[in-house]
Amino acid sequence: MVTIPLLADLKRQRRPIVMVTAYDHPSGSAAEAAGVDVVLVGDSGAMTVLGHPDTVSVTVEEMLVLARAARRAVRTPLFVVDLPFGSYEISDEQAVATGVRFLKEAGADAVKLEGGGRVPVSRARALVDAGVPVMGHVGLTPQTATALGGYRAQGRTAASACRVLDGALALQDAGCFALVFEAIPRQLTGAVMPRLAVPVIGIGAGTATDGQVLVFHDLLGIRAGGGPRFVRRYADLQQAMDAGVRRYAEDVRSGAFPAVEHTYDMPPDEWAGFLAALGEGPAGGAAS
Ligand code: KIV
Repeated sequence: MVTIPLLADLKRQRRPIVMVTAYDHPSGSAAEAAGVDVVLVGDSGAMTVLGHPDTVSVTVEEMLVLARAARRAVRTPLFVVDLPFGSYEISDEQAVATGVRFLKEAGADAVKLEGGGRVPVSRARALVDAGVPVMGHVGLTPQTATALGGYRAQGRTAASACRVLDGALALQDAGCFALVFEAIPRQLTGAVMPRLAVPVIGIGAGTATDGQVLVFHDLLGIRAGGGPRFVRRYADLQQAMDAGVRRYAEDVRSGAFPAVEHTYDMPPDEWAGFLAALGEGPAGGAAS
């Protein structure tokens, strides 16, 4: 089983950490079978599986359903669940209450929260003090994308780069066991990494991090359109799904499905008995 100390060991040994998102039993099973190190039930599930326009809309209750489904398949990787927007911002007490719910009700090993400003850092510290392991997330933080000017790379100016660095250091000081860097320039990642002791997992942050994370639906092409530039597509499942359902619909409409091999048979004597019961037997008489 992958544990928090094991992630630290992987970093020490310079063995790349593999993280992927999952939101249900099939995606959790694929992550388990692939032997990834960390599974994240990301609030990206708001968009990838729930059809929301952004991550802001997803609720704790929805995240709990997704996390429980994935958890039933994920036995070996470290299992991390995103704290959704609105579930930790109000107070440290609210953050701890939500974090504890994910540990107790979804079997999470840890939670992830976004942002390196004063509020998220305070929440991270409160969670860690309460015994809830926390992964921090800096750079592009989708929950606050509107305030950041949209889904765009962060840290591309000197001032913005300083904010990313300060946030990462503050989250580490608050006790986060690992960090996610999302959509920041590779030069910035290279400059920040030597200043951090905890494992850092990147998405659109270059090659200097201790590992990489991708969204399940992005890497398998279960989406319309290309996705962010940091995605490499390893399959095109949306096309395969669309084509499969289209062929099924055609077969039903043309009568090509179901074929005889998709149907059940009845033993001849039972069939004869049934016909007799209906008064339609070979003798034409009603069953006694
Ligand atoms: O919600 C998510 O999928 C994430 C990853 C992009 C790290 O936070």
